[in-house]
Amino acid sequence: MTLLDMIPSLQPGIPPRLSPGIWPRDARYDSEGRITLGRVAVTDIADRYGTPAYVLDEAEVRARCRAYRKAFPRARIYYAGKALLTKAVAEWVSAEGLSIDVCSTGELAVALTAGVDPQRIILHGTGKSRDELEAGVRAGVGRIVIDSLSEIALLSTQLNRPQAVLLRLTPGIDVHGHPAVRTGVLDQKFGLPLGSADAAEAVRRILEQPLLQLAGLHCHLGSQIYDPDHYGEAVRRLIAEMAWIRRDHGHLITELDVGGGHAVAYRPGDAELNVAELADILDDALDAACARHRFPRPVLAMEPGRAIVARAGVTLYRVMSVKQVEGASTFVTVDGGMNDNLRVALYGAHYEAVVANRRPHGPQRTVTVAGRYCEAGDILARDIRLPVDLHPGDLLAVPCTGAYHHSLSASYNCVGRPPVIAVRDGYARELVRRETIADLLARDIGG
Ligand SMILES: Cc1ncc(COP(=O)(O)O)c(C=O)c1O
Repeated sequence: MTLLDMIPSLQPGIPPRLSPGIWPRDARYDSEGRITLGRVAVTDIADRYGTPAYVLDEAEVRARCRAYRKAFPRARIYYAGKALLTKAVAEWVSAEGLSIDVCSTGELAVALTAGVDPQRIILHGTGKSRDELEAGVRAGVGRIVIDSLSEIALLSTQLNRPQAVLLRLTPGIDVHGHPAVRTGVLDQKFGLPLGSADAAEAVRRILEQPLLQLAGLHCHLGSQIYDPDHYGEAVRRLIAEMAWIRRDHGHLITELDVGGGHAVAYRPGDAELNVAELADILDDALDAACARHRFPRPVLAMEPGRAIVARAGVTLYRVMSVKQVEGASTFVTVDGGMNDNLRVALYGAHYEAVVANRRPHGPQRTVTVAGRYCEAGDILARDIRLPVDLHPGDLLAVPCTGAYHHSLSASYNCVGRPPVIAVRDGYARELVRRETIADLLARDIGG
């Protein structure tokens, strides 16, 4: 308990702060004590569109894209659509000069519908079907990433014109973290292990196919990587591999895609990747590795997803009940939960939540924010501080929910998925409407 908790009378004079670094940069409290996003009061958004609702600050997304373009002026930056893809988001990021990484026919369709130039799309997927490859080829996507040996023949049968491909390799770099997000280590399902017989065979088979052009090598090391040195190491290993391919096959690879995984802060004090530092480290690693192997500098590509959209998103929930379990925790139950935020159950992610409809002046206590769904693991935030006078009807806002929330959402318990509401310059508009019971029933064909 802090001094302010013990002496509540000290508190009214102290304006509550929204922790910088985890909220959209222009999020603030207005004179009535409400949080505003994009200069729209969250209470107005909740009244108009209901809760739970994902709010997305357009200016924040665009600013993040610009920061990447500035840090990597010569690199190809693919926004990883799996983090959050709607037609509007695809439009924003491509208008800001980013390309798009898609990993399914559905994501491809969203990007194409948004008018993204197919040449600026890279198609991923671990286990792409014939239909998926065909859709990519038909659309004329700029790059397809080969993830397995069997994909090479499958893709080749679809082609009647040259197709540039990248080969995804796992460089054996352990970035630590939750096992579900360590994708650069050898023992996992993505890509082929660098230096393995399968990787060598993949190179041979791709080069054998007259319509496949092996343009680049690809790796993705994992998620929430805050140490940029891991990317430097990936560059060193992949340039060595490129030099080996040139020596053994006389084929010059011209692109190096180091994937995404750039860490963002979810709570105050969390480590995040410094993009300027990453730029320096990649630059130095490329210079050194290319000099060492006398290899021409390839075009650098990367695929940030979370780092572009996470901080632009805030989820709004209505408090449904506050329950103090004797001798145990106080549970604040809200009208959303694991259906709109799977990351807590999936990776043990941690979030902050704040009261958004009024300025909290009084004492606080430690509570657990629980979801409304029929799973004991449906928890949104454990052991966070919220006002003692929190009550049903209050609005809670959870920051840093722009990435892997809408895209991972579900309709468990037959509860429709929340809408995505964009805010900008004092206006709110619906990008994706709430899923209704009619939507859910429409898929159920019956007996
Ligand atoms: C191949 C690939 N690229 C990019 C990303 C984006 O990662 P992040 O959103 O952490 O930047 C992922 C995420 O899983 C991925 O698998």
